[in-house]
Amino acid sequence: MPGLTIGDTVPNLELDSTHGKIRIHDYVGNGYVILFSHPGDFTPVCTTELAAMANYAKEFEKRGVKLLGISCDDVQSHKEWTKDIEAYKPGSKVTYPIMADPDRSAIKQLNMVDPDEKDAEGQLPSRTLHIVGPDKKVKLSFLYPSCTGRNMDEVVRAVDSLLTAAKHKVATPANWNPGECVVIAPGVSDDEAKKMFPQGFETADLPSKKGYLRFTKV
Ligand code: BEZ
Repeated sequence: MPGLTIGDTVPNLELDSTHGKIRIHDYVGNGYVILFSHPGDFTPVCTTELAAMANYAKEFEKRGVKLLGISCDDVQSHKEWTKDIEAYKPGSKVTYPIMADPDRSAIKQLNMVDPDEKDAEGQLPSRTLHIVGPDKKVKLSFLYPSCTGRNMDEVVRAVDSLLTAAKHKVATPANWNPGECVVIAPGVSDDEAKKMFPQGFETADLPSKKGYLRFTKV
């Protein structure tokens, strides 16, 4: 069954969290939010991931991006587990809220269920990460199984790509990092590109001579 995916509006759920009740659309406000799930509290990979998120929180803050965690354990469990996360990486503080979904209805609506991971009460969340934009739509999703912890550098890179693409109406090529050339979207004609990018652009000379791979700096 298809679930929440890029281009969809994130459901406006209200859930309890370590920071009190959170309504997702209010939390997103006019900015970007990284909404991420983890399979369970007091589990090894999740502990390393939430500690890594805490360590990267400043990077996201600098970019105006807020963090919001969720799993099906309750708020009291999230609060107890936070002490372990912070002790595992001394100096790190879990300043972002973690929502609770004890009846597992939210993780279904957010397309964050791992069909292969179950406990006595049912299916557990996968490691899903949705980047939600100011229009409350999912801009990008990562979907990892419980055995694979995420790479936070790649999450930052994806945020940088989305923000750059939205600001300059461009796209970013494979392995792009900020400061490197971006590409001009296929829907933009060369004449439009000259107006949009007065700094100029370079077209790769490829066998097809179709002129579709155009690089510029923003
Ligand atoms: C973990 O976080 O280590 C984990 C959680 C659920 C299943 C497997 C691993």
